[in-house]
Amino acid sequence: MVIRIAAVGDVHLDEDVVGRFRPALEEMPGNADVLLLAGDLTRHGTEVEARCVAREFGGLGVPVVAVLGNHDHQCDQVPQVVGALEEAGIVVLEGNGVVLDSPGGRLGVAGVKGFGGGFAGRCASDFGEPEMKAFVRTTTESADRLAEALHSLDCDLLVALTHYSPVPDTLAGEPLEIYPFLGSYQLGQAIDSAPTALALHGHAHHGSERGTTPGGVRVRNVAHPVIKQAYSIFHLGDHLDQAQVSGIGAGGIQQSWS
Ligand SMILES: [Fe+2]
Ligand SMILES: [Fe+2]
Repeated sequence: MVIRIAAVGDVHLDEDVVGRFRPALEEMPGNADVLLLAGDLTRHGTEVEARCVAREFGGLGVPVVAVLGNHDHQCDQVPQVVGALEEAGIVVLEGNGVVLDSPGGRLGVAGVKGFGGGFAGRCASDFGEPEMKAFVRTTTESADRLAEALHSLDCDLLVALTHYSPVPDTLAGEPLEIYPFLGSYQLGQAIDSAPTALALHGHAHHGSERGTTPGGVRVRNVAHPVIKQAYSIFHLGDHLDQAQVSGIGAGGIQQSWS
């Protein structure tokens, strides 16, 4: 038994983009059991842009689960953005999770936006000015909420969905100087604290697709500029310890996952 997970992030929709994803999305019920959206769904986080997301990603015939990204916060209209997405039936996670029944089993998805901070040996620390402590505390609280959400779900397969990256692997291609603004090791620690089968994120437009947490959880950067297709599809086996990840392009081209 397999659960088929479609995922994409960083679609950055505004009115000029509406319709570009739809032809591939219309094929969704035949390709996947669920679609996960890894944040930066809008360009500047306005309600108008969120309604574009709702039109593009609503009514697909499969459950759609999202986290927001930093761009979705830009205009301080998060409640309106979330409201527009929820009206279209899109589940928006932030420090919580959802369990979806699929023919392959019960899929648990825990989600947070996440935040920056950097990675082992090269990270911000909870020291010094209040502003620096607040920056690090934001990441710590986000990672704590992700861990709580992951542990709260009763499911057959567990997936972590974030916008910011939990590992540096999938940032390869980005300038080293901005790694601390692209993700945090604390998200990786949260993912490793639970029996997570797969972690999906976006945000790193110039990063790379594949990575692994220190605990061995497979990480995939599904930012649209990275995957260069409407969405990627991951096949997860029905046992956490035997989960197999494979991917096919929206056009049905099989990729091998080593
Ligand atoms: Fe983005
Ligand atoms: Fe982003």
